[in-house]
Amino acid sequence: MSLKLGVNIDHIATLRQARREVFPDPVDAAAVCLSTGADYIVVHLRKDARHINEKDLAHLCKYFPGKIHLECSVAPQMEKAALKYKPYSVCLVPEEPGEVTTTGGLKFTPAVIKRVAQMIEHLHKKHILVSLFISPEPADIRLAAKLGADIVELCTRDYSEATSAAEARKLLQDLALATLLAKELGLEVHAGHGLDYHNVLAVADLGGISCMNIGFAIVTRALFAGLPTAVSEMKGLL
Ligand code: PXP
Repeated sequence: MSLKLGVNIDHIATLRQARREVFPDPVDAAAVCLSTGADYIVVHLRKDARHINEKDLAHLCKYFPGKIHLECSVAPQMEKAALKYKPYSVCLVPEEPGEVTTTGGLKFTPAVIKRVAQMIEHLHKKHILVSLFISPEPADIRLAAKLGADIVELCTRDYSEATSAAEARKLLQDLALATLLAKELGLEVHAGHGLDYHNVLAVADLGGISCMNIGFAIVTRALFAGLPTAVSEMKGLL
């Protein structure tokens, strides 16, 4: 069975925001992605709304019900937006001011644990599935299960930045073990961050992961090959 592909279209909006224009519209991008191989659409609503904004989220959830996977922090304003627009699923991620991109999985401080638990409860009441973006660490996986998450998204950033084959092999092994544990605990497993047309196959081959969330590699490939080709090529690899 092929893995599902979630295409992150944040950087379509990044391009729009570069000129404070109304195009390219993420809604158009979502339609193209969904008709050329994406199983669902991923967007990250950031506090500074530097790419996707609340209006985009509203439109995407309206036009593509059941197909929007929202990434956001545990900030109350993000919870409010998620409960208002009701994406199919929400992935809780850490967010640091000024970061270029998400730097890793959630750091489970007592305050973060409390907010995650609250958000899981509130989102579940609206029938929204909850994913936690975490490092492939056994303790974090056990905590995600204990908190009642539906999904864990294993962070592949370290793997994608490995500087040697030996390091990549070791990080793949960590991802494989994390996947086994998460599935044993009844969690669905996603993977993402830094995946591209070259490094995605080894992760797909691990088995047990149901969805890959990929953005930057697809949107940048689209500049040269076109969005339909960029999406269908990635889907073809899965
Ligand atoms: N998954 C999560 C949780 C992310 O934060 C991101 C980046 O927004 C991605 C996947 C996609 O990463 P990339 O753009 O490197 O493919």
